[in-house]
Amino acid sequence: MSRSVRIVEVGPRDGLQNEKGNLPLDLKIQFVNLLSESGVSEIEAGSFVSPKWVPQMEASDSVFKQIKRHPDIVYSALVPNVRGLDRALEVRVDKVSIFTAASETFNQKNINASISESLKRLRPVATRTLKEPLPLRGYISTVFYCPYEGHMNPDACVPVIRALLEMGVGEIALSDTIGKAEPDDIRAVLDKVVSICASDKLAMHLHDTYGRATENALVAWKEYGIGTFDSAAGGLGGCPFAEGAPGNVSTENMVAAFAGAGAELSVDLDKTSEAAQLVRELVRR
Ligand code: HMG
Ligand code: MG
Repeated sequence: MSRSVRIVEVGPRDGLQNEKGNLPLDLKIQFVNLLSESGVSEIEAGSFVSPKWVPQMEASDSVFKQIKRHPDIVYSALVPNVRGLDRALEVRVDKVSIFTAASETFNQKNINASISESLKRLRPVATRTLKEPLPLRGYISTVFYCPYEGHMNPDACVPVIRALLEMGVGEIALSDTIGKAEPDDIRAVLDKVVSICASDKLAMHLHDTYGRATENALVAWKEYGIGTFDSAAGGLGGCPFAEGAPGNVSTENMVAAFAGAGAELSVDLDKTSEAAQLVRELVRR
């Protein structure tokens, strides 16, 4: 097992998309710039979805144009369709993240498409991203539990993974959208998944509704060799289309859990805490 762990900071996207108010642009930029000093490997700095659906992410174009980029950090963004990819490429994102789900009902509510329609819509996005060439992540939501369909069959994500791999994604983020998974749910899914996808292509995106995200992350790392984990400074976050998804696991807790378990991490906990403190004050205003 590799001891090193990559932390993908998703606070500026998954965190801020779920806040009731829309933070002013300069504060979003300040947040990303602070996170850039924390030593995380990647920052999901925004999302090029429809502003009619998620107004909180409307300024992502300006965020990408104005942040101070650290040369060692990958600045990624969520892209739902070709229109979103045009916007993302225009502001020179470093990596594109497409997204779909294991549950039909959630996918319909989140992106107004069935799983197969969404895969069809994402195919040209993937093709163009790879042609750039830029790295490509594929998120799969509701792998473990769906807010509408309940406990998911561990097999449900398998055809979606196959389809994303066939499209050429380099990384698949298995998502516990509503943070309900327990360690045995993680094992039940990963037992299936590692036979069709190498663990170094997998990332875990864990929400922390019941405080089990770090335990689940350690299972994925220790027992399955997965080394990439998403988290959000201050534990912000959630999905506006998944009731019961209040927060991503906090970067502070994730880093502390991995450091305690002997992982090698580049993240500076003081800097992350500073960014978390800033964002807590900002969202409280
Ligand atoms: P739609 O309404 O079916 O399609 O939305 P549409 O093409 O008719 O678009 C509606 C309007 O948005 C149109 O404007 C489009 O032009 C415009 P109008 O003609 O009415 O004036 N539009 C756009 N504008 C800017 N950029 C674009 C864009 N696309 C369309 N890219 C669509 C379909 C996919 C666009 C919509 O459903 C959408 O944007 N959904 C995004 C929802 C979202 O962002 N959810 C949260 C992120 S996912 C998540 O949080 C889960 C994750 O964290 C993992 C986990 O935890 O599970 C990743
Ligand atoms: Mg999420």
